[in-house]
Amino acid sequence: YIAELDSNDLEKGTYPYYMLKEIDEQPAVMRKLVLKYQDEEGKLSIDPEIVNTMMDSDRIYIIAAGTSYHAGLVGKKLLEEMTNIPTEVHVSSEFGYHTPLLPEKPFFIFISQSGETADSRQVLVKMNELGHPSLTVTNVAGSTLSRESNFTLLLNAGPEIAVASTKAYTAQIAVLAILSEVVGMEKGLIDEPTMIHDLGIVANAMQTLVDEKDVIEELASEYLSITRNAFYIGRGMDYHVALEAALKLKEISYIQTEGFAAGELKHGTIALIEKGTPVIALVTEQAVAGHTRGNLQETRARGAHTMVISMDGLDRPGDHIVIPKVNPLLSALVSVIPTQLLSYYCSLHRGNDVDKPRNLAKSVTVE
Ligand code: G6P
Repeated sequence: YIAELDSNDLEKGTYPYYMLKEIDEQPAVMRKLVLKYQDEEGKLSIDPEIVNTMMDSDRIYIIAAGTSYHAGLVGKKLLEEMTNIPTEVHVSSEFGYHTPLLPEKPFFIFISQSGETADSRQVLVKMNELGHPSLTVTNVAGSTLSRESNFTLLLNAGPEIAVASTKAYTAQIAVLAILSEVVGMEKGLIDEPTMIHDLGIVANAMQTLVDEKDVIEELASEYLSITRNAFYIGRGMDYHVALEAALKLKEISYIQTEGFAAGELKHGTIALIEKGTPVIALVTEQAVAGHTRGNLQETRARGAHTMVISMDGLDRPGDHIVIPKVNPLLSALVSVIPTQLLSYYCSLHRGNDVDKPRNLAKSVTVE
């Protein structure tokens, strides 16, 4: 045990915690992924067997747990937009024992950083028995889910040590974006591929944000140092990121945090807002930006301590964090970065063990 700690400390280099190192690695992970999935001609390429099997299916089922489930929510949007194949996302512990009515040709995508999550594996075992094809998107080559499914796409993110997942989440989304574009091209739905370029822009945007740690650390002190509860709100893609942002804050700061669909807040949950309750809004989608801001204003009128994370072009004076402009389909990859850093600094300031939060394990191999 002591030997393990020593070698871990060496790998951490000058970083106080793995989580911060892993947050910082994300721009490089994006760039490496694009290179990994490029062929000699510089085009994105995925095993044709995977592409053909997906094109042959009438519905995609994404199965995952925790942060990987949240990556799946973003992945559904990417797959539907680019491949036109209807896609559902399910929590694995629910799906296996309460399986919905399946179509004739379902295709399963298991998302799992570790490739060992028992909840997800039990679904794979059942779907294998039914003879349904499956793909595992994982960071660990040779992991159980990878071995037991038909196909694997690797994240290439390097080992993720901190229990709170960061770089695996963004790598999972990037792999699904690459897969979606390749299938969309093959189906003739996309004329000009843009993903290599778009992910390069994402990597640069991520770098800008990880270089703004001081600003985010200050916001963490101001908003989250003494509160007992908090909210992240957003719509569409921003709602999906709100769920992940809230999970990250719960995991390592122990603040009771809800990720909420901004428009749904008024239908009950707004009753929880008190003077000083932090409410953080994500605003990266033009069509709903005004609505989300309106919902945030409703909480401010009830005393909430409000913060806005917006995307360049949709920003307004007074916004606290403005993320650089990227392809709106990929906004989650960038908007999640400040939320990871807010959680990190909040946990650090509260004196918690950032990398090893209480009650949690990196990989959960029981159902
Ligand atoms: C555990 C971890 C989470 C993780 C989840 C799914 O609960 O604490 O951080 O998101 O498992 O893990 P997986 O390896 O399947 O992505």
